[in-house]
Amino acid sequence: MKKEVQLNKAKWLVEPGCVVLVTSGTMENPNVMTFSWQTPVNNADPCLILLAISHVRYSYELIKQNNELVINIPGEELLEQTHLVGQGTGRDRDKFKESGLTPVAAGAVEPPLIEECAGHLECRVVEIFKMQSHDLLICEVVRALAEPDFFDGRWIPEKFHTLHYLTGSKYGLMTRTVEAGNLSSLNL
Ligand SMILES: Cc1cc2nc3c(=O)[nH]c(=O)nc-3n(C[C@H](O)[C@H](O)[C@H](O)COP(=O)(O)O)c2cc1C
Repeated sequence: MKKEVQLNKAKWLVEPGCVVLVTSGTMENPNVMTFSWQTPVNNADPCLILLAISHVRYSYELIKQNNELVINIPGEELLEQTHLVGQGTGRDRDKFKESGLTPVAAGAVEPPLIEECAGHLECRVVEIFKMQSHDLLICEVVRALAEPDFFDGRWIPEKFHTLHYLTGSKYGLMTRTVEAGNLSSLNL
């Protein structure tokens, strides 16, 4: 059972720069697409996340209809589904059916969560910066949830492997925690 995450801690769900699945539309007419161009842009509540989205995405059309979306965090076990929904448009296909991902109702926004993902950020789009090919969406997180076995304020890489886009159909995995801090004790 996923647990609520305090909104001033919500950015830690996407801090590792992981690939995410963004859901848009409604429970009746949902869509899903893959994103690697995402980043937190503040360190507070409200938590703000930036997404760079191409003008041509069907998801963008849906997002503009209700100004809402959900950022879902997949792990290694969703590699194939993550890659699949990042290709081809949901305009004429049901990518939920094709991938086997399950839409479930969110708590604060219209687009669904993806049941199989370990974390979710329910968002409202609060500002759009128009750019040449990809617009920059500033998304305010209004509700955050994460699987407590995998997320204790940060993802636990020994238990949950976020995906990181390399190129083509290649992805990297976050699998291990390392800790810095030795240099400061060298008295340099
Ligand atoms: C790993 C990966 C990362 C991607 N990142 C982005 C991104 O950051 N922004 C974007 O606009 N498209 C990105 N895409 C492409 C969209 O996910 C893809 O075009 C998708 O099929 C659009 O679906 P839609 O037309 O149903 O909205 C990415 C695709 C993959 C496979």
